Amino acid sequence: MNEIAVVEMERQEKTNDVHSKSKGFDIYSNTTIIIFLALSLVTLLILFDFQALHTPTSSTSLKSWTFQKWEKLCKTNYDSGNYSSKLNEMTSKLRDSVTFLPLKDWRFKPREGHTWFMSTIEDTIEDDEVEYLYFPSEVSKRRILCLSARDRRDGGNNFYGLAWPESLPTNATFMEGLTYVSDTYYDYNNLFHAVTAMLPFVGWYKRKGCEKPSRWVLFHWGELRTGMVTWLQKLMEATYEDDLKLETFERGNGLLCFEKAVVMRHNMGRMGQEKKREAYDLMRCKARAFCNVSQPEKVLNINGNRIPVIRLTLLMRKGPRSFKNESVVIQIFQRECEKVEGCKLTAVHSEDLSFCDQVSLMSSTDIVASPHGAQLTNQVLMDRGSSVMEFFPRGWKELAGVGQFAHHWVASASGMRHEGAWWDQQGDNICPPAESDRCFKYFKGAQVGHNETYFAEWSRRVINQVKTDKLDQGSIESPINSNICSCG
Ligand SMILES: *[C@@H]1O[C@H](CO)[C@@H](O)[C@H](O)[C@H]1NC(C)=O
Ligand SMILES: *[C@@H]1O[C@H](CO)[C@@H](O)[C@H](O)[C@H]1NC(C)=O
Ligand SMILES: *[C@@H]1O[C@H](CO)[C@@H](O)[C@H](O)[C@H]1NC(C)=O
Ligand SMILES: *[C@@H]1O[C@H](CO)[C@@H](O)[C@H](O)[C@H]1NC(C)=O
Ligand SMILES: *[C@@H]1O[C@H](CO)[C@@H](O)[C@H](O)[C@H]1NC(C)=O
Repeated sequence: MNEIAVVEMERQEKTNDVHSKSKGFDIYSNTTIIIFLALSLVTLLILFDFQALHTPTSSTSLKSWTFQKWEKLCKTNYDSGNYSSKLNEMTSKLRDSVTFLPLKDWRFKPREGHTWFMSTIEDTIEDDEVEYLYFPSEVSKRRILCLSARDRRDGGNNFYGLAWPESLPTNATFMEGLTYVSDTYYDYNNLFHAVTAMLPFVGWYKRKGCEKPSRWVLFHWGELRTGMVTWLQKLMEATYEDDLKLETFERGNGLLCFEKAVVMRHNMGRMGQEKKREAYDLMRCKARAFCNVSQPEKVLNINGNRIPVIRLTLLMRKGPRSFKNESVVIQIFQRECEKVEGCKLTAVHSEDLSFCDQVSLMSSTDIVASPHGAQLTNQVLMDRGSSVMEFFPRGWKELAGVGQFAHHWVASASGMRHEGAWWDQQGDNICPPAESDRCFKYFKGAQVGHNETYFAEWSRRVINQVKTDKLDQGSIESPINSNICSCG
């Protein structure tokens, strides 16, 4: 039987109890009184017989024996001298009674809306926010979260339990401050998935007045993770203005109890669209501050005319999913850009840029054009409302599944405008017919070709749209830059 069912049954039993008590009282009360009276009578008769058979002295000894016993009991248990020893005894019982359960509960299959991670504890749900668990809270009866979770291979070997701070399990280490605990079905090395797991914490951080966590505990299926993809780690460090301290459970015997802990295990879960955007706003703003990015000129003054600057960035990759012919792609975009006054093209390789170079570049980019890949997550560093153009190698449209829309989703969550994608239909990668089930591996890392007509029309349309929008905005100042760095 699974844990939820047990809890559910207990609940039902409790309600049944209440029912039978409230219903049964009227029915049984009369019978109960009669039985009680009858028993009392019998007892009196027995006592009477007992006394009648004995001498009066034995009667007093019976009385005094009872009293002495009572007195002794009181002394042992409740004398002021022994009160603290009793307390200690109770505390040590509480200490020993903390129950540890596996972080990954094999009785559950992971699926949307449910998790096998800490499956006995229910989420707290608030409007437009990600489901979370917070310890200590009324829900946890003021108990704090303890984890013994060193295992990196099997979440079934990692454990959680709840304990009162006054009676932590023996040999547990008390960890001061706030701890973030994340569990994700995916992982922390894929940029898209990792951002999805981190965003709720940034949302939490923002609404809790930017209270900094003292440490982070990362899990995937209840297995400990002690690293995340570098770009995101840097972004988190910029956002939290602090090093990312990832817990490894190496101190003491590895049993840690956390003064305060927030647990998120649904990625973005029920997080509302605007909440997601606010979290991205905060990361973007903090990253720019961290990297000392100065706002670039937004308007050119040409012969007395104010012309909005439109910055188009071609973000290139090396190796898998790079353009087959980079120079020809650059030429196409360059030509279109030159046709529009104020348009400036930058073509760079993301691998050549440091984190802060990327923050700086994207801060001044209005349109990013890039093959599908992790580097495109940089889009979230542009001002809200900026544009994204994406390119795929042959085979992706048919075989890559919904995952290929990751950057559409990131654009939507961060408030960017995904201007569509181009799927190469021409590639020369061949999938051997015998392997048709696994063809995608032949296309996954393939290079991206180009279609001059298509690229030219597409970029022209996007550049002109951005220009029109900038002119419409009137002031041409970025509308989203005030106050988004603040918390609360
Ligand atoms: C306290 O309790 C212990 C046994 O638990 C007993 O031996 C001792 O005499 C008690 N002390 C007092 C002051 O009653
Ligand atoms: C606590 O730690 C000590 C020393 O490492 C060890 O001997 C003892 O068995 C531990 N107790 C428990 C309950 O784990
Ligand atoms: C940003 O500026 C501050 C103060 O001038 C400096 O300490 C810091 O190193 C700079 N950060 C970066 C990433 O350049
Ligand atoms: C790229 O395309 C241009 C123009 O079509 C051509 O001259 C050049 O050889 C191509 N380069 C590569 C590496 O294919
Ligand atoms: C290139 O794009 C144009 C415009 O969308 C289209 O008409 C043409 O068929 C495309 N060429 C190839 C070879 O796919």
